[in-house]
Formats: sequence, structure tokens, C-alpha cells
Amino acid sequence: MDRLIIEGGRPLQGSVQICGAKNAALPELAACLLSDRPLTLTNVPDLADITTMCRLLEGYGVKVTRPNASTLVVDAWGAVSAEAAYDIVRTMRATILVLGPLLARFGQARVSLPGGCAIGARPVDLHLKALATLGAEIAVEGGYVVASAPNGLTGARIVLPLASVGATETAMMAAALARGETEIINAAREPEVADLGACLNAMGAKIEGAGSHRITIQGVSTFKPASHDLLPDRIEAGTYAVAAAITGGELELIGGRLEQLAAVADVLERAGVQLWPTDRGVMARSGGRIRPVDIVTEPYPGFPTDLQAQVMALLTLADGTSTLRETVFEARFMHVPELARFGADIALSGTTATVRGVAQLTAAPVMATDLRASVSLVLAALAAKGESTIHRVYHLDRGYEALDRKLVRCGAAIRRVAA
Ligand code: UD1
Repeated sequence: MDRLIIEGGRPLQGSVQICGAKNAALPELAACLLSDRPLTLTNVPDLADITTMCRLLEGYGVKVTRPNASTLVVDAWGAVSAEAAYDIVRTMRATILVLGPLLARFGQARVSLPGGCAIGARPVDLHLKALATLGAEIAVEGGYVVASAPNGLTGARIVLPLASVGATETAMMAAALARGETEIINAAREPEVADLGACLNAMGAKIEGAGSHRITIQGVSTFKPASHDLLPDRIEAGTYAVAAAITGGELELIGGRLEQLAAVADVLERAGVQLWPTDRGVMARSGGRIRPVDIVTEPYPGFPTDLQAQVMALLTLADGTSTLRETVFEARFMHVPELARFGADIALSGTTATVRGVAQLTAAPVMATDLRASVSLVLAALAAKGESTIHRVYHLDRGYEALDRKLVRCGAAIRRVAA
């Protein structure tokens, strides 16, 4: 297992290319299973999670080709609804996204309950309820979801009790091939949901309102060959904005979009970070001392849970006390004890972390746990005095393309050491 050795204390300067969004790529790859025509995705990030999804699709008979580094062609012409290999499914929660498309196209599916980051209960009950509302029969047997709809799915009104991103995506994909009209109420509004809607429409689906509270879908029976360019990764962009701020530097986030980062920009600006749009993306510049901020994570357009750990790393160095309340994933605080190893002063009470700013972080050996937690440790190490070692960086490779190389190009001192 690789580790990163980081010498902290260097202000980052330069530009970083922001990749396409991982969280749009994963459902869009799964969506190929709906169709017997090829789907070409461009601006695809080169990440372990994407490779995992491709391996899963290949297990169903999908032909996956990569004509260049950032393009994937997925052709599910010869696909079958087989059983997915458990060793693939257990590594990533997003594997559940194949369930809806397989069921809609083949009338039956058997998919293992997913694994993934250990950040709370993360059930899939809403995915299953949405499919049941479309007429599927669902059973959970021995760790597997067994779903069937021998006569196909039928459009229906799906009311989500909470605006789950994944459940919205499962419902959209399945309804795209259902008979008649489907309405999804209290849909997740994340930009990645809107991007999936655009991708499905390019494939021939008839979806309106993706990215809003209410999505309507007119079922179709056939799809066509399609190409779709992924939207930029707002979480990657937000992470590099924090990297600029925590090191007292300045980074241009090439391809980043400020409009996708409104709640994040609001928090960072209150913390004293300057952000402004440029011709090529977004500029993020440290404004000197960091000010404390109170943050609550929420579904989009609120402050994203996927940036909570990174912003917490920043606030460990603020002039005063900040609070971060997590409302999306109750147990997403694994980074707290690791940040404490750098000398951060964080008290955890239920779902709220209280962060008392310290003047300086000092280097430490730390252990990456989940994807976003790991990157918060990299950020802390970039600011800390001395040489830190981050163990288990495979979590980072799941979600950040070439993180160490991108940071090194902007002046960071990072070495990757193979174990
Ligand atoms: C997606 C993102 C993840 C992000 C999260 C919230 C992908 C691949 N992943 O995850 O990076 O952190 O959105 O923005 O896009 N829930 C249920 N039952 C369900 C489904 C979800 O109770 O069937 C709960 C979850 O436990 C959680 C909340 O709903 O507390 C939100 O989860 P959800 O929006 O579904 O997140 P994911 O789609 O898993």
C-alpha cells in the first residue's frame, strides 16, 4: 500500500486542471446497461472507482474501451443480467447503481448489497422502494438484492422521504425504460443528477427537471448511440481551493465552475479566502489569516458533506472557534482523531465538531480512512511544520486523479513511496 511523505509549509502557486466529476461518471457508466447502443463519455477522470465500475460492467458483458486517457466507450449490446462478483461490489457503494438499469432492461437483477466508505449506515432502502413503486418485486436474500419485473416496469409517482442522490439516480434510470410517465418528488438537486439527466436524454430518454425537486420521465422503449461530456468535479475544485487557502497560496482551478460552488464559496469567503471566476475557471487565493465559520452540511445547494473534512482541516488554523454539523452522513468524522495528531483541537459531540483554531499544525504520521477524510489529512500535512506520512493512500486514488502530481506541480513537496 502506497504512502505519501509530505514536507509542509510551502504556499501553493499555479494552476490545477479540474477533472470530470466522479459522481457523475459512476451513474452514467451504469446507465449504459439500459441500452443496446454504445455510450461515449468524455472528460472521464482516471480513478480507481471508475476502473471498479468498468470491471463490474464487464462482468455483465459490457464492452469497455478507452480510446484515450479521458474517454470511455461502453457498449452494453451483448450484456446479460448475471450476478456481479462480490469482490468488486464490496469495495464501492455506487455499484448499487447497476440495479435499476439491469432490472429495467432485463426484467430481473441480482446485485450484492454494496460496500464503500465506512461513513455511517448508508442503507439502500430508498433505491429499493423506488423500484418497488415502479412495479418491481424486491427481496433481500443472503446479502443480495433480488429484483424482478417479468412484464417490465410501469411509470409511477415516487415520493422520496429524503432527497437521496443515489435513489434519485436509480429511479431516473429505471423509469427511463418503464411504460408511461414517472414523477420523482423531492428529488436530489445535485449537479451530478442534472448531468445524468442530460446523459440519459442524449441516449434517447425523455427526462425533464433533473437538477430540480421534481423530475418527470416519459418512458421510452429504445435508445440510440450517444456521446456525453461530463461536468467538472465540484468536490475536486473545492478541495484545491482549500489547498490554496491552507498553504497561504493561490491556485487557478482550470475548468472549475463557481456557480456549482456557491455554498462552498460562501463558507470559504467567510473564512477569509478569496474566490473569483476567470476565463479558464476559478481563482482561489488565501486572504491571510483564517477566520472561524459555522457550517452545516446539507443536500445541494447546501454545503456538501463531501467537503466537510477538507474545510475542517482549514478551520483547525482559524483565529477562533468554528462548528461543523454533519446532517447527511452521521458518522463522517473519522478524520477528527487523525487531524488531532497534527495538533488540531477538535471536540466531537454527536454530529457536531467544535474546532478551536491553533496557531500551527505539526507534522505527524496518519492513517487515511475514507476518501474525503484522507484528502483532509493531505491538506493538513501541506500546512503542517515538518514531514508527515499519510498511510493507506489507496482511498485517495479512488477519488482524486494524480493528486500528488498536481500538488507537486504547484510547489508542494510530496513523495509517494510504494510499500
Ligand atoms: C452520493 C455521493 C457521495 C455524497 C452523497 C451526498 C455518489 C457516487 N456518491 O452518495 O459522494 O457524499 O451523495 O451528497 O454520487 N440514504 C438512505 N437510504 C437510501 C439511500 C440513502 O437512508 O436508500 C441516506 C444515506 O444514508 C445518507 C443520505 O440518505 O444519510 C444521503 O445519501 P445519498 O444522497 O443517497 O448519497 P449517495 O448517493 O450514497
